[in-house]
Amino acid sequence: MPLPLLLLLLVCSSQASHYHGTVMTYYPKNTNADGSMTVELQYNLNFHCSLDITSWTCPSNNCGTVSSEVAHSVTKDSSPFEWCQRDGIISLEGPTNAPFQLLLSGGDWINFIRNSIGSVKAVTLVELRNRSDTNQANRSPQTNILAVVRVPSNCPRDFNLLTFDPDGDQVKCRYANSTLSECDQCTPPSVLNLSTSCTLSFSPTDSINEGPWAVQLVMEDFPTQNITLTQTDGVQTTITTNNAISKIPLQFVFNVDRAVPSCTEGLYLPKFLPPTPDNRAQLYTPVNQTLEISINATANISMISDLLFSGPYNMNQTTLGAGQFILSWTPSENQTGKSHPVCFVVQAVFNSVTYQSELRCVIVNVGYDPYLIPIFVGLKMKVSALSSLSEDYIIDNIIKVVRAEMLSQGVPSDFPLSLIRAKLV
Ligand SMILES: *[C@@H]1O[C@H](CO)[C@@H](O)[C@H](O)[C@H]1NC(C)=O
Ligand SMILES: *[C@@H]1O[C@H](CO)[C@@H](O)[C@H](O)[C@H]1NC(C)=O
Ligand SMILES: *[C@@H]1O[C@H](CO)[C@@H](O)[C@H](O)[C@H]1NC(C)=O
Ligand SMILES: *[C@@H]1O[C@H](CO)[C@@H](O)[C@H](O)[C@H]1NC(C)=O
Ligand SMILES: *[C@@H]1O[C@H](CO)[C@@H](O)[C@H](O)[C@H]1NC(C)=O
Ligand SMILES: *[C@@H]1O[C@H](CO)[C@@H](O)[C@H](O)[C@H]1NC(C)=O
Ligand SMILES: *[C@@H]1O[C@H](CO)[C@@H](O)[C@H](O)[C@H]1NC(C)=O
Ligand SMILES: *[C@@H]1O[C@H](CO)[C@@H](O)[C@H](O)[C@H]1NC(C)=O
Ligand SMILES: *[C@@H]1O[C@H](CO)[C@@H](O)[C@H](O)[C@H]1NC(C)=O
Repeated sequence: MPLPLLLLLLVCSSQASHYHGTVMTYYPKNTNADGSMTVELQYNLNFHCSLDITSWTCPSNNCGTVSSEVAHSVTKDSSPFEWCQRDGIISLEGPTNAPFQLLLSGGDWINFIRNSIGSVKAVTLVELRNRSDTNQANRSPQTNILAVVRVPSNCPRDFNLLTFDPDGDQVKCRYANSTLSECDQCTPPSVLNLSTSCTLSFSPTDSINEGPWAVQLVMEDFPTQNITLTQTDGVQTTITTNNAISKIPLQFVFNVDRAVPSCTEGLYLPKFLPPTPDNRAQLYTPVNQTLEISINATANISMISDLLFSGPYNMNQTTLGAGQFILSWTPSENQTGKSHPVCFVVQAVFNSVTYQSELRCVIVNVGYDPYLIPIFVGLKMKVSALSSLSEDYIIDNIIKVVRAEMLSQGVPSDFPLSLIRAKLV
């Protein structure tokens, strides 16, 4: 009798096997006069199109209320993998800026995962307390990934994941940890080495290791100096450079494909050509203006078939011809002042076998490029004080407030700002 029961369980589990990974990042929106706080959480969720059963919840019921939720679904296809990507933005409004956690769960990873990962679990820690260094709420690291990243079993490859932090924090990666309840099954993929600076290294491996592996990463931002976090009620906590501020999940399928006759880029594996932007490049575009990212790739033996990308929901893909693609995007008003991560690969086919290029990710800042356009803005301020202010005091305090205000308006954090002259009147 145990056999039919086992079969039944297998059928059930294969029906719920659908998950391809996720990414979640956040941006605080505003602190209201009554101390309440709005935050925008941006996520991508990848799954088999017929099984949309995974969702974000608030296990401790301390995330505030959902003030809006928008989601857009697109079908992506890359034989033998086929999945849908849901891009969502959840706006949460909480009574205070106290930290909280969001939990992703429901269903299982796709079938035949090599490192025996079954159930879906991912955790985001949202920290919104006021930082003493920026005078504003923390912003999470910004990153992205594709649902499936693949490499032939005989080719070495390094994946330098996108690790952009709008606050200039140090970003580190580690595998999800069961002790911290970040995963249910937590075995890291034995075919990958992870560095704390978020490089995943793959070394040539035996064909026995071919197939899909589940990668469950946690990305965290660390301050570059000791900082104080202040809660709406005035309670303060000091954290050091060894304490993570927030944490976000980065999960995807890493597929080890059959060996290729040559690992040289440009033969079977597509090779990027100019003007394709470099990995981790920073791009800038003003609001309402269309940004075009040109992607050019070549392969002499295989045929370039398609471009796979993950980016803002209203980014469009155009194919110009053999290996030439354009990603175009017109950021709307509500996408301004933020940095938007975009990742892409080009795929090629030879004898029905698909080959992926290296993975490249860029960050698109909606605002002005501080390096490309040399704009000098003179700002004249009149400050009233009861006693006379030293130049040091002005640099330490007043310039800091101006910088924080500029940051909150979308000016990049490395924008140079200096005091030219202080005049006592
Ligand atoms: C953070 O604290 C500073 C200094 O007390 C204050 O000026 C600023 O408005 C606060 N920012 C937020 C987002 O609460
Ligand atoms: C998981 O986290 C615990 C508690 O922080 C730590 O002691 C342990 O070393 C971590 N495990 C791994 C595999 O990193
Ligand atoms: C990981 O790094 C260690 C030490 O450098 C090396 O021996 C091992 O082969 C690497 N594993 C993989 C899968 O790259
Ligand atoms: C940061 O805080 C730690 C722990 O409180 C302390 O030991 C260290 O001296 C501080 N570092 C600086 C630069 O203030
Ligand atoms: C592909 O062909 C072009 C033109 O024949 C040649 O210049 C290039 O070196 C070839 N690429 C590789 C990787 O061999
Ligand atoms: C962007 O376009 C919207 C709608 O057309 C318009 O309301 C807004 O003023 C524009 N913003 C900028 C900065 O041009
Ligand atoms: C793409 O690369 C090919 C080969 O080098 C070149 O002929 C073509 O002009 C490039 N396309 C663009 C848009 O630069
Ligand atoms: C992208 O496609 C949508 C729908 O087809 C269209 O409304 C939008 O204008 C396009 N955006 C750009 C930048 O081409
Ligand atoms: C942003 O604005 C666009 C159009 O202006 C709208 O379609 C979209 O739903 C808005 N997104 C959010 C998260 O409010």
